[in-house]
Amino acid sequence: MDRVYVTKHIPDDHLERLSGYDLGVWEGEGPVPGEVLAAEVARARGLLTMLTDVIDAPLLDTAPRLEVISQMAVGVDNIDVPECSSRGIRLGHTPDVLTETVADSAFALLSSIVRRLPEGEREVRSGKWGPWEIFHLAGGDLHGTTLGIVGMGRIGRAVARRASGFDMEVIYSSPRQVSIDAEWVSLPTLLTRADHVILCTRLDGSTRGLIAAGEMTAMKPSAYLVNVSRGPVIDTDALVAALRTRRIAGAALDVTDPEPLPRGHPLLGLDNCLVVPHIASASVRTRRAMSSLAVDNLLAGLRGEEMPAGYAPEGQTP
Ligand code: DGY
Repeated sequence: MDRVYVTKHIPDDHLERLSGYDLGVWEGEGPVPGEVLAAEVARARGLLTMLTDVIDAPLLDTAPRLEVISQMAVGVDNIDVPECSSRGIRLGHTPDVLTETVADSAFALLSSIVRRLPEGEREVRSGKWGPWEIFHLAGGDLHGTTLGIVGMGRIGRAVARRASGFDMEVIYSSPRQVSIDAEWVSLPTLLTRADHVILCTRLDGSTRGLIAAGEMTAMKPSAYLVNVSRGPVIDTDALVAALRTRRIAGAALDVTDPEPLPRGHPLLGLDNCLVVPHIASASVRTRRAMSSLAVDNLLAGLRGEEMPAGYAPEGQTP
């Protein structure tokens, strides 16, 4: 029987669909340890991976039988895609099913940080709620402002749709112009014009460190920055400096570099920074849909059929 390994316990009814294989599942805490993964890939024909698993060339060198990798995420930056392609390993991922949930979360993050909700909540909980004051915790607005979306893939479009409901003007930067009721601009123009910026791009060589000190200097001092893409798209040290000096007004981050952020990290000491632990797609329904699609991809790949969501390096944006 062919071996299939799943690097996290996905819902039981989804695991049951893999019962025709010699199935292994990582049942421990946290990501599967490197040595366990190495031992498993040495005999597996199929792998179902999470974004925390590093699938690189040295690991693939030890995987003589591996034919299919199915990642339970839309982003595959943890996987060396060219190395998979050169070895004929098919790759699947989970686009579409998470798009609307991530866009909801992007808007939740944006409205929370712009209206300073985390600061207000901390104040109330710590017993520091004082008399009402006119400008106490006064923040920015969403309505009537310009939203800059960096990366206009599926999630970017879903964010843009929400923005129009909030009466915002949308501008976007993206490698290609897309058919959407929003203005396509260069990144420098977006940064200078936008009142708020949401990062929806994928992480690759062209977007790593895309938002660094110079980019934050170009932004309006009243601007808020939201990241629902991947942590390394922002230069973390530059962000800490920009938030500390109020070069930008604030940031709300679903993703960080590193992840998880260690206790005492400078970002966690800043009032104008909201950090949540990479949960933008974490509604129960969406996480189940991602898990189910990952199993669909894996089974199709193992049967030599077309995957419902095979990853094609070109033209794929989150
Ligand atoms: C993805 O799918 O890439 C997300 O980051 C997971 O929530």
